[in-house]
Amino acid sequence: MERSLIRCGAGPADAPVLELFADPNWPEAQRRMSEDLVRALEAVGRSVRRRLRPSRKEPLLSRSLHGQNVVVIGGSSGLGAAVAVLALEQGARVIAYSRSGRSPGGVEGLAVDVTDSKALDQALGRVGQIDHLVHTAGARTPSEPLSSLAPDSLQQAFAPKLFGAIEAIRVALPYLSKNASITLTSGQLSRKYGTGTLAKGVVNAAVEAAGRHLAKELAPRRVNVVSPGVVGTEFWGEDGSESRRMFLEGVGSGLPVQRVGAPEELASAYLFAMTNGFATGAVIDVDGGGLL
Ligand SMILES: NC(=O)c1ccc[n+]([C@@H]2O[C@H](COP(=O)([O-])OP(=O)(O)OC[C@H]3O[C@@H](n4cnc5c(N)ncnc54)[C@H](OP(=O)(O)O)[C@@H]3O)[C@@H](O)[C@H]2O)c1
Repeated sequence: MERSLIRCGAGPADAPVLELFADPNWPEAQRRMSEDLVRALEAVGRSVRRRLRPSRKEPLLSRSLHGQNVVVIGGSSGLGAAVAVLALEQGARVIAYSRSGRSPGGVEGLAVDVTDSKALDQALGRVGQIDHLVHTAGARTPSEPLSSLAPDSLQQAFAPKLFGAIEAIRVALPYLSKNASITLTSGQLSRKYGTGTLAKGVVNAAVEAAGRHLAKELAPRRVNVVSPGVVGTEFWGEDGSESRRMFLEGVGSGLPVQRVGAPEELASAYLFAMTNGFATGAVIDVDGGGLL
């Protein structure tokens, strides 16, 4: 008896789920019917395998930063510097922008004020293709109650953090790669309310709203926002100063994790936003439980 092998189903190609036997003494018509049946079942098998095979060309989970161009606006200190260092460690080419132009070890630094549209245009044009744009630039906004809030405080809070971020994205548009990521920075005060938090709170809430709108408008490019809780950076004063140490210890002791965050812990959230191809329109809270 002659044997025909039919491979049909989701298993590997050499693992048949059905075998058909044909007798060489069968009349011609019966043989042809049998061969037709073999062909039909093989076509079903091919179709099932095709449907179950992942069709995407890009990896589903994380994209490597290796060889990617990463721009960090606000990369001279604090969160931006930690992001720049982590991206460099992951094999990216990193350029850190800030007014001072300083940059952490090994990272290329360039001086630009994000509120100066013309300077921004020239600076971003030097990068070539931008694969990841991270914006952490922000003013050190004071925590004043409304009665003593200086008239230009709101303007100063919004200028680099919201207007500067939006302008940087607008200027970067021609240089952004097709699958580029954009990561903005807000802060837990967007959703934590109190006295003296108006200026920080409204700018952070606006950044989160901008991130979500732009995630829709700029798709398939991805736009996310990292929302930090209190993190031990220069934002809170000079490293080693007594006032900063006391403030950070006081805040930390009231948090579920019993301490404030480290810049490196935030940097890993930016890395997630940059490399996870399914994350867009997200606000990523990394705050030690500060919002609870
Ligand atoms: N640290 C926290 O606890 C915390 C908590 C919640 C939210 N955040 C937010 O996270 C962001 C980063 O905070 P951080 O702690 O990293 O602060 P940071 O250490 O003060 O860093 C701010 C960065 O922005 C740059 N920058 C400021 N104004 C700029 C401008 N006009 N143009 C270009 N660069 C400018 C600064 O460099 P130059 O001065 O050289 O320009 C610096 O590199 C801020 O938006 C902050 O509100 C921080």
